[in-house]
Amino acid sequence: MKHPLSDRVVVITGASSGIGEALARECAARGARVVLAARSAAKIEAVAHDLRAAGRGSALAVPTDVTKPDQVRRLFETVEREWGGVDVLVNNAGFGVWGAIERLPLDLIRENFETNVFAAVSCAQAAIPHLRRRRGCLVNIESVAALRGLPLAGAYAATKHALHAFSESLRAELAADGVRVLSVCPGIIETNFHVNRKHVGPRTQTGPDWLAMPADRCARQIARALETGRRQVVITWHGWFLALAQRIAPRLLDVLIAANYHRLTRAEAPAASPAANSTP
Ligand SMILES: NC(=O)c1ccc[n+]([C@@H]2O[C@H](COP(=O)([O-])OP(=O)(O)OC[C@H]3O[C@@H](n4cnc5c(N)ncnc54)[C@H](OP(=O)(O)O)[C@@H]3O)[C@@H](O)[C@H]2O)c1
Repeated sequence: MKHPLSDRVVVITGASSGIGEALARECAARGARVVLAARSAAKIEAVAHDLRAAGRGSALAVPTDVTKPDQVRRLFETVEREWGGVDVLVNNAGFGVWGAIERLPLDLIRENFETNVFAAVSCAQAAIPHLRRRRGCLVNIESVAALRGLPLAGAYAATKHALHAFSESLRAELAADGVRVLSVCPGIIETNFHVNRKHVGPRTQTGPDWLAMPADRCARQIARALETGRRQVVITWHGWFLALAQRIAPRLLDVLIAANYHRLTRAEAPAASPAANSTP
């Protein structure tokens, strides 16, 4: 293991549920000091309390809306004051937007970029001085949608493509300082993501339930990738398949995905009521 997490200070945004919460628990189990950041203060405090009670590393909850620069600044000031700095930042906070691009309000696309991209960049900017000092690691939780755009997920995929590009650029910009950048590209994971997703149009499923991987398994793979010094990890077999097909047969993938989209939308069109077409 090249980069053990033991005693490292790991800041995780979006740690109140899903992948972020599971990763906080996994890192704590590996001996890391975990900082949980999200808007739901009660939820992150409960997870931190759980981790402290179980004696699994130390844990700190710092309520933070990552889209608010003053709150991001306060998050890193708090970690500096309490624990002296940051070894790992996991940019995990995010949400999905679902709907045909033609019908997506631009404001909703902007909101998605605000959280999934600009907030991640703002957290990275605040963390970089720490990561330089401690030769640490920046982890961006992207998606397989960062490697391949998908119908109905156009806005979301664009945010994740943007984040992926930031990861690649930062990897080069920070390499000489010994700072690593890990891109994490999960497929479908069992979390609240699909409930919290904002929809325009009918609420279609991302994929069949049996495809989804439990969040704790996803978290184990992320922690392993961090400790072994990987630059990118694709999680779930269907994610691997999509990434591979995109690399070796993108045209065939275009045809298959378009045919599936056509079949889906044709099947669902008659059921779509005007009420179902509003954004919740
Ligand atoms: N689940 C999947 O299938 C999947 C697949 C690929 C990639 N991902 C990515 O994985 C990441 C985590 O998603 P998840 O699946 O674990 O979904 P989730 O259960 O909905 O968790 C999303 C987390 O993001 C936080 N968050 C959202 N907006 C925030 C803000 N402005 N400030 C701070 N925290 C914010 C939420 O906390 P609060 O509401 O408490 O702030 C929550 O903790 C996302 O970036 C998502 O795009 C998920």
